[in-house]
Amino acid sequence: MKIMDKSFSISMLTAALMTSGLANAVDLEVTHWWTSGGEAAAVAEFAKAFDENTSHKWVDGAIAGSGGTARPIIISRILGGKPMGATQLNHGRQAEELIEEGLLLDITDVAMADGWKDVVNPSSLLDSCTLDGKIYCVPVNIHSWEWIWLSHQAYEDAGVAVPSNWEEFVAAAPALEKAGKIPLAMGQQAWQRSGAFGVMSIAIAGIDAWKAVNIDKDAAVAAGPEYKKVFDAAVNARAMAANSKVQDWNQATNMVITGQAGGQIMGDWAQGEFQVAGQVAGEDYTCLPGLGANEVISTGGDAFYFPKQDDPEVTKAQKELASLMMSQAVQVAFNLKKGSLPVRGDIELDTANDCMKKGLKILADGNVLPSGDMLLSADTQGQLEDLMVEFWSDTSYSAEDAQKRYAAIIGSAD
Ligand code: GAL
Repeated sequence: MKIMDKSFSISMLTAALMTSGLANAVDLEVTHWWTSGGEAAAVAEFAKAFDENTSHKWVDGAIAGSGGTARPIIISRILGGKPMGATQLNHGRQAEELIEEGLLLDITDVAMADGWKDVVNPSSLLDSCTLDGKIYCVPVNIHSWEWIWLSHQAYEDAGVAVPSNWEEFVAAAPALEKAGKIPLAMGQQAWQRSGAFGVMSIAIAGIDAWKAVNIDKDAAVAAGPEYKKVFDAAVNARAMAANSKVQDWNQATNMVITGQAGGQIMGDWAQGEFQVAGQVAGEDYTCLPGLGANEVISTGGDAFYFPKQDDPEVTKAQKELASLMMSQAVQVAFNLKKGSLPVRGDIELDTANDCMKKGLKILADGNVLPSGDMLLSADTQGQLEDLMVEFWSDTSYSAEDAQKRYAAIIGSAD
């Protein structure tokens, strides 16, 4: 791994050193929903860097459950006047209202001092933190949803080859079932089902149809033949996941890790779990970007926002954390554990595993799409999740009916 310079801004560092040990050290509560093994290991890198490089203290505010549970808690605390020092959100549209209400700290000065505009790649990550020319968050990773994770053990036990694309995955399902395995591991939560559907859309409907629906909100394409294929595939997926009763995404990942399930459609944060379990990409598991059909990734991710507080010392500590999170060393340490890609274009991850290398190559080739968090409002996302929960839970819900309702949601999406 090459670290080319220390990008944690000198001004911040000097300020931190000068104040270290003095009474104005701040206990900064940081909320996030990173509670799985891999996620906890990754967020610990932020805490360590903050505690070691500043005079302040990271007070961990992990919220168990998932983003779906944590986000309303985070947002209602900020709206209710009990702001934390910093918080994770997926940048894009989730913080829109908070910014408009004037509740989040403008960190444009940090971004300028540290030259974020020159290093953040793709630039859409910083655009998603920007409103009316002001920057309100620090993007910390590029996370992509578009992966399926396959268990070598499960396929070996079933006596079939590890699939190299979605069609082979579907074709191998009966052999897995015969061997007592669950072909597709899937947690019951709404966001997981909706996310998996999004991945199938890009892979099966193709990029143009996906863009027409998600960017142009074209209801006719959503109701058309390309998306029909996606809903037919979703019916298949529902049948393959029928015996997967777990709730949390990482429980489903664990079924793949232990060879109880063939695969899981999940974002690249799943890598953190394989890593904690000591599994090696390419040996114990295979990852297929775009379900092996369309090698493209969306460039969403996580960002940290800093709710405004009426205390200049807190504001200073918040800005030090923002600067540190973007620094090269912290970007490397955090993203290697998280399974995501760094947001800086000036880092070479020599120690990246096979799957991260695939992601980096796709990124370098420019085969990227914006994420749903950037394109769809929280309300539209909620409607899609409701549809997906009903569809995945009820085997009598037909592809045709689901597609009709889907097209209606897209038609009225904002
Ligand atoms: C996403 C988040 C990821 C990941 C995942 C599962 O919202 O962007 O970082 O951890 O949730 O918790």
